[in-house]
Amino acid sequence: MKKKIAVIEGDGIGPEVTQQSIRILNAIAEHFNHEFEYTYCLMGADAIDKTGNPLPDETIEVCLNSDAILFGAIGHPKYDNDPTAKVRPEQGLLKLRKSLQLYSNIRPIKTYSSLFHLSPLKAKNIEGVDFIIFRELTGGIYFGKKETAADGSQATDECTYTRQEIERIAHLAFQFAQKPERRKKLTLVDKANVLETSRLWRKIVQEIAPLYPDVAVDYMFVDNAAMQIILNPKQFDVILTENMFGDIISDEASVISGSLGLLPSASLGTGGLALFEPIHGSYPQAAGKDIANPIGSILSAAMMLEYLGLHEEGNLVREAVNWTLMNSFVTKDIDPVNFYFTSTIGELVSDFVSGKVSGSVNSQNIELRKSTII
Ligand code: IPM
Ligand code: MG
Repeated sequence: MKKKIAVIEGDGIGPEVTQQSIRILNAIAEHFNHEFEYTYCLMGADAIDKTGNPLPDETIEVCLNSDAILFGAIGHPKYDNDPTAKVRPEQGLLKLRKSLQLYSNIRPIKTYSSLFHLSPLKAKNIEGVDFIIFRELTGGIYFGKKETAADGSQATDECTYTRQEIERIAHLAFQFAQKPERRKKLTLVDKANVLETSRLWRKIVQEIAPLYPDVAVDYMFVDNAAMQIILNPKQFDVILTENMFGDIISDEASVISGSLGLLPSASLGTGGLALFEPIHGSYPQAAGKDIANPIGSILSAAMMLEYLGLHEEGNLVREAVNWTLMNSFVTKDIDPVNFYFTSTIGELVSDFVSGKVSGSVNSQNIELRKSTII
C-alpha cells in the first residue's frame, strides 16, 4: 500500500519525537511491504523564524494532498513570556485545525501495570483504567471573538457553539461508545449550571441519546470531573466535552498513565483528512537532549496506521510499545533515575517491529547505547 504522509515536526522536542515515529513507520513499511512517502512542512515558531508565518499556505496545500498528517509539537518560550506578541506559534496549529475542519480530537487514556509504582496515584485506583476523551477542537472559546480595549484595561474571549458543531462530535462519541470493546457509557463534561453554551451541549446530547439506546449517558460538571478523574478514573468510558475543558482535563488525565509524554491523539475532520499528534507540548527545556518521551508520538503513529486501514500494523506498534514499557525501557519523565534516551526507545520499538527482538535483551548494553539485541 502506498500512502502520502505530511510531516510537521514543529518546535521544541517535536522534531526528535517525530523522527522516532518515522523510524518506526519505516520499519512497518519494510515489514509489511508498504510505501510511505513523507513531505515535510513548516508550522509554529519554526515557521515564523523561517517565513514570518506560523502556518505557510504551502503547509495547508501539502496536508490537503496527503492521506494523513503526523505532527510533533508547537510553542516557544519567547512567545509564552511575551503577551503582546502579535504572531504566535500556536496560531499555526489552531488555523490548521480550523482550515481542515479537524473538529474531533480523540485522546485515549490507559494505564500500564509496569508503571504503577511510578504513578503519584495508588495502583488499586488506576489498574484497568481505560477511557477516551472526545474533545471538540474547532469551536468554543478558542475560536470566539477576541478583543482587547485600546487602553489595555479590558479583554474579551467569546465562547460560541452551534448546534451543528455539537451534533457532529456527539454522534461520533456515541458511535464510539457502542463499539464492542467499549463499556457503552458516555459522560458529557460541561458547566451547564453556569454557561449557556454548556446548556446547549446538554440539550443536544439529551436529544441524541435515544438514538443510541444501548449507551448509558451521564452528565458531569467540569469541576467535579476534574476531581473524579483523579479520585475514581475507572468510572469513565467515553468522555465528551468542549474544546477548552477537553484541553484541561486531558492533561490532567495523563497523570493516570504515568506521564503526559505517553499520550497520543487523533484529530478527525469533515474532509476525510486526519492529523495525529502527541498531546504534550514542545517542552523546550528538553529540546535536543535526547530525553523526551517519544511514546506519545509513536502511539499517535499507531493511531494513524489504524486510520489508514492498517490494523495489524497499528497493533504491532502498540505491542512493541507495551513490550518496552513492560521491560522498564522508559524515558526520564517516567523514571528520573533509570532512564533511556529518546532515540534508544525508538530503536527498541523499531527493532521489535522488525522482529529483531525475541524477548532476550541485554539491558546493560542498551544503557551503554551499544547494540540493543543479544
Ligand atoms: C493541545 C495543546 C494546544 C491546545 C495548544 C498548543 C494550542 O495544548 O493540543 O492540547 O490548546 O489545543
Ligand atoms: Mg493541551
